[in-house]
Amino acid sequence: MTRERGDTALTKKLHLKTYGCQMNVYDSARMADVLAPLGYSVTDIADEADLVILNTCHIREKAGEKVYSELGRLRPLKAQRRAEGGDLLLAVAGCVAQAEGAEVVRRAPHVDIVVGPQSYHQLPELIARATRAAASGVPAPGRGIVATDFPTDPKFDSLPRQVDPQAVSVFLAVQEGCDKFCTFCVVPYTRGAEYSRPAGDILAEAQNLVQLGAREITLLGQNVNAWHGSAPAGGEWGLGRLIRALADGVPGLRRIRYTTSHPRDMDDDLIAAHADVPALMPFLHLPVQSGSDRVLARMNRRHGADEYRRIVDRLRTARPDIALSSDFIVGYPGETDGDFAQTLDLIAEIGFAQAFSFKYSPRPGTPAAAEPGQLDEDVKSVRLAAVQELLRRQQDAFNQATVGRRVPVLFEKRGRHPGQLIGRTPWLQSVHAEGAERLIGQEVEVDIAGSGPNSLAGRIVTIEPAGMGAAA
Ligand code: 5AD
Ligand code: SF4
Repeated sequence: MTRERGDTALTKKLHLKTYGCQMNVYDSARMADVLAPLGYSVTDIADEADLVILNTCHIREKAGEKVYSELGRLRPLKAQRRAEGGDLLLAVAGCVAQAEGAEVVRRAPHVDIVVGPQSYHQLPELIARATRAAASGVPAPGRGIVATDFPTDPKFDSLPRQVDPQAVSVFLAVQEGCDKFCTFCVVPYTRGAEYSRPAGDILAEAQNLVQLGAREITLLGQNVNAWHGSAPAGGEWGLGRLIRALADGVPGLRRIRYTTSHPRDMDDDLIAAHADVPALMPFLHLPVQSGSDRVLARMNRRHGADEYRRIVDRLRTARPDIALSSDFIVGYPGETDGDFAQTLDLIAEIGFAQAFSFKYSPRPGTPAAAEPGQLDEDVKSVRLAAVQELLRRQQDAFNQATVGRRVPVLFEKRGRHPGQLIGRTPWLQSVHAEGAERLIGQEVEVDIAGSGPNSLAGRIVTIEPAGMGAAA
């Protein structure tokens, strides 16, 4: 490689590897934004990076362990750089960083920086410190800098946002953290207490995003429907009110979505917004986790299976074509065959357009990890396979039901083949169709011709000029 080390700031390369949820995807983009003024441009190739950030997920054990294997893979690269007289800075960000802190540096002493999700605005300073430490020549394995405090200033206010002007569908973080303390979940510990951004900031950011070309905004938060931000003219709004303000106050914004929601926070106004805000898309990710009241109580979900059914009924009354998605955990401690059967019953009854399902994974420090009745891996595997089979059949049926229909598709980007476009239906299904690039950013009627496992195939409806109507 001919690239020179220590050359001007403008040539530095940042490789970001993101694990886990949409919030991490969002945060990774913000980290790139914070580092751009320092001269870092993003590369997909770890080998050519000066700085690698692993933005990690701690939600299940498997997700956490992936980080250590990746750090193991990066170790020789860093050693080689140092042997050449240069360096490769390694940073671990995200929820593993927050949950494990200095333990990361103990297990992987070649890590330079451990930075929790609330401290990303400190990255420039952390990098400067790490660079100085490396340049001082003192070999410092195990002395990585750890920044995992929960600062008092909300990070949103200190993080810049550079918008990719091509982006048609964008995320906008409105809320972070969680106060629910479901017994299985690390989020309240890694992301901290619930925080809602003020409505005025969100509206201003949405306006800016749409001016730059966005047509769809997904409001993002760990517990997004618990959002309760200060209103522009004083007082407080809930999420339904915010959605109305976005729909009314941001011209050019065609589609609004929000994720992830908790059943307890599906209030009347938010449900009503599904009836009377046309821009609010008829798709909702509303995790229920289990169909058994006993398990739900032990999980501290603070609602029962029937309450979930009632919420779904009300949503379907408000918006009859609403498609539902959920998360399920199988094999929670003490889950019996009978409890599990109730989960299958609930799924069969509701009918999900898509869903995610996981084997329960004990997370250190969470109450469920210390519960008696931890189940064997093979019991969990059998239950997971059964849940996934049922959910897969429901997803196929949902997609099949779209075939033969004419639906509005918002085109977001070019496809892999020349002349191919990729977009989404209102129900979040991905659609491929042949079409001109100028249609990117437009919502166009598409005849859905076929359905594959992960996407639909469609034909764009061309409007015949007047007088040239189809005479068969
Ligand atoms: N084990 C398995 N799945 C989990 N989830 C959260 N914590 C755990 C855990 N300890 C799942 C939940 C949640 C989703 C994001 O991850 O279903 O909704
Ligand atoms: Fe975790 Fe969601 Fe429960 Fe909060 S509501 S503790 S993020 S599962």
